[in-house]
Amino acid sequence: MIIAVDGPAGSGKSTIAAAVAKRLEVGHIDTGAMYRALALKVLRSKLPPEDASGVTRLLPGTDISVGDGRVHLDGEPVEGLIRTPEVTAVSSVVAQHQPVRVWMVDRQRKVVHGAPGGAVVEGRDIGTVVLPDADLKVYLTASEEQRAKRRAAERGGSEAEALMEVSSRDARDTAREHSPLRAADDAVVIDTTDLSIDEVVDSVLQAMRERQHP
Ligand code: DC
Repeated sequence: MIIAVDGPAGSGKSTIAAAVAKRLEVGHIDTGAMYRALALKVLRSKLPPEDASGVTRLLPGTDISVGDGRVHLDGEPVEGLIRTPEVTAVSSVVAQHQPVRVWMVDRQRKVVHGAPGGAVVEGRDIGTVVLPDADLKVYLTASEEQRAKRRAAERGGSEAEALMEVSSRDARDTAREHSPLRAADDAVVIDTTDLSIDEVVDSVLQAMRERQHP
């Protein structure tokens, strides 16, 4: 059973994907963490993240693996290093380069297809590009204010700063040429603005049951 969870920053993807995976006893794969790990490598290499050829040249010597809360970059556990504002901003810039996306999608499909019993996979292009045959596609949304509020509560800092981060990342992720953020035509769209975590998880599980027994 494969569930794709897409949506913008702060829509609740990580929390919901982790909770649904736990309830279904399957793995949780956070594809954003892979873009973040690459962003960390780009920052360390002092390359401008906009330099598509330079970033692409890093890929053959790069190894990124993810699974159940852990992220490794070239064998180093980096989960504690990839949630900074700097890595966050750079992740959405490196994600614009097509060779990066091709490299990521190939690895993401291998991880998912190797996951016993399936997985809940979160990202921006999972339902549209990575796993178009997913058993269920969920697209989470929430008002920009609510998303900024969640970000600020999670990561610290002011809501005004979080609003700027969320809206500039949304603009880049939605407007990019390759695999922009959008809901797949057959996705179940859930607006999480006024819903609790449990309510969203229940809606996803209900949608899953409806898909299995229409
Ligand atoms: O989900 P996240 O906030 O950790 O993702 C960080 C960035 O990575 C996001 O701004 C865009 C990019 N990303 C992507 O382009 N495609 C994905 N499937 C996941 C993330």
